[in-house]
Amino acid sequence: MYFFFTLVKKSYQSLEVNSTINMKQVSNRKLGRNILTISLIFILTLSGSIFAQDGDPAKGKSLFNSNCAACHKLDKKMTGPALRNIEQTLADEQGLDREWLAAWIRNSSAVIKSGDSYGQKIFDEYGGAAMTAFPQLSDEDISDILAYTAQEPEVPAQVAGAEAVGGATGADSGISNKVILGGLALLFALLAMALFLVRRTLNRFAEAKGVNLEETKRTPIWKAFAQNQFLVLVTAIFLLLASGYYVYGYMMQVGVDQGYQPVQPIHFSHKIHAGDNGIDCKFCHSSARVSKTSGIPSLNVCMNCHKSIYEVAESTATEEYSKEFYDGEIKKLYAAVGWSDEDQNYTGESQPVKWVRIHNLPDFTYFNHSQHVTVGGLECQTCHGPVETMEIMSQYSPLTMGWCIDCHRQTNVKVEDNAYYTKIHEELSKKYGVDKLTVAQMGGLECGKCHY
Ligand code: HEC
Ligand code: HEC
Ligand code: HEC
Ligand code: HEC
Ligand code: HEC
Ligand code: HEC
Repeated sequence: MYFFFTLVKKSYQSLEVNSTINMKQVSNRKLGRNILTISLIFILTLSGSIFAQDGDPAKGKSLFNSNCAACHKLDKKMTGPALRNIEQTLADEQGLDREWLAAWIRNSSAVIKSGDSYGQKIFDEYGGAAMTAFPQLSDEDISDILAYTAQEPEVPAQVAGAEAVGGATGADSGISNKVILGGLALLFALLAMALFLVRRTLNRFAEAKGVNLEETKRTPIWKAFAQNQFLVLVTAIFLLLASGYYVYGYMMQVGVDQGYQPVQPIHFSHKIHAGDNGIDCKFCHSSARVSKTSGIPSLNVCMNCHKSIYEVAESTATEEYSKEFYDGEIKKLYAAVGWSDEDQNYTGESQPVKWVRIHNLPDFTYFNHSQHVTVGGLECQTCHGPVETMEIMSQYSPLTMGWCIDCHRQTNVKVEDNAYYTKIHEELSKKYGVDKLTVAQMGGLECGKCHY
């Protein structure tokens, strides 16, 4: 603001000098230039601060899931407190700021040891359970996580009948976009107001100095602007760069479905099955070990258990999903396989469930599960994230070519106890003169390995 007023004052001074020698042209130019400088500075500083403060909730979500979800939920107390709106709550109720939060998240026991009274209090409240330290999280990571915790609760998935499968909710980026657009709209409104005020003030000064405004009638600002070739050039370059930036960002997103989380015909919770009840992934995705695809289990696999599990326990219900909701979903499973719970037999009237496919590589690529899971010895979670915590399945990794390649560059092939590799390994490690081979050195970057 101080800067702003100096600029106004300067314009006024130039007006003062000019009015005496009556150099209309110069005064117009200067005025135009000053106003434009003001606007540019405004746009840059304000947009800068909008982007810096507003973390990306989509990124925050995956950071939260991989780092925090083991102990925290948004809306429910677990090992640690519920974290929905934590930043706001701590600011309102305890007067603690982002700095405190960052220090806490990076190393909560250091905060407690420093004698922080709130830290001590909450630590005692949770029976002295210590939170993991996360020194590796950057300011941006923390801002992303907090942006995610500040999101409105998701409306429980509206589950349609077995045949209605559309209605993908897509990635979570919509919200942050809205915030940015809203911010920009506000910005331009402020800018327009500021310009209006500048103009009025200048007119007043001019009048007070006895300048005859009719006589010095200014060329309109846009004309002054158009006449100044330098300004036109700078603005054009600025606009070009800005639009280039957005187009590039958009293009890079095409075909990347990270976070894709469609509504499924039956609400199926991996958290309840693979997490709470500890059912092995391969019990349902049995082909992952031996074949190219993992596949979705057939409903017969479900019925191994669900002939006898016709309802969920009271304790399974959450604030978000009631017992009635879950029981209703099991009824949908019965309807789909044609199981009559009263008669305890099949009616013969079944309708297939059309699960919406989430992970999907383009047709021209080749990906093989057994090669990664059985031969490579990778955990499902390395690529699919903390599936056992997902109430609703979503795509965790970007599945781009860069993602495949990065891992192939970094991952050492597990050759121990693997007869197939003993010989190849010896030959190749001699060739590269290393102890350990990365997948890349084994040929994992050759186009033909992944492309038909
Ligand atoms: C190993 C379990 C564990 C993990 C993982 C964990 N926390 Fe915590 N967190 C806790 C516990 C327990 C508390 C309660 C205070 C205490 O006992 O230290 C807590 C407290 C907090 C608080 C203070 C909440 C309040 O109401 O004042 C915040 C904020 C927080 N955690 C954020 C995070 C974030 C962000 C992550 C992930 C980057 C995370 N925690 C990961 C266990 C965990
Ligand atoms: C009780 C059976 C069952 C178990 C156990 C299970 N899943 Fe699933 N999985 C399913 C069903 C049914 C679907 C399809 C519905 C959905 O997407 O939620 C699915 C979908 C998936 C998908 C998405 C498939 C797609 O469309 O791209 C992945 C990835 C996945 N499971 C991984 C795992 C992992 C990893 C584990 C172990 C931690 C696991 N599953 C355990 C039944 C199971
Ligand atoms: C190296 C990374 C990686 C690992 C490890 C991995 N997956 Fe996948 N998974 C993928 C990719 C990539 C796709 C998409 C495949 C496609 O579209 O052809 C996929 C797709 C799936 C699907 C969708 C159906 C299908 O077969 O295409 C399921 C279900 C699945 N994975 C489950 C699992 C399970 C269960 C495990 C562990 C036993 C596992 N995945 C381990 C990368 C991985
Ligand atoms: C190994 C046993 C087992 C298998 C196989 C199994 N379930 Fe379940 N299922 C359970 C258990 C246990 C619960 C939770 C019961 C509780 O909480 O009281 C459950 C709960 C459910 C629920 C209610 C909670 C939710 O996730 O929405 C649905 C719906 C469900 N299962 C569908 C399926 C479907 C569809 C399949 C097949 C793809 C399947 N189950 C396979 C054991 C199994
Ligand atoms: C998390 C790490 C990881 C990711 C991500 C990953 N891979 Fe792999 N990949 C491996 C490992 C480890 C091996 C070596 C397995 C072995 O021992 O043969 C491998 C081997 C391969 C091979 C065989 C290479 C050879 O020389 O025989 C192909 C093909 C392949 N991966 C394709 C893909 C594709 C396509 C993707 C992405 C969709 C992908 N991988 C993502 C870890 C990964
Ligand atoms: C480790 C596996 C892997 C290797 C090796 C690999 N690619 Fe790919 N490539 C992929 C995957 C997966 C995609 C799909 C990416 C997507 O859908 O975003 C892809 C996509 C592409 C595309 C489409 C454009 C795009 O980015 O979506 C081109 C072109 C391509 N690859 C060329 C090559 C060439 C040339 C090589 C050899 C230098 C190569 N690839 C090696 C996995 C691989």
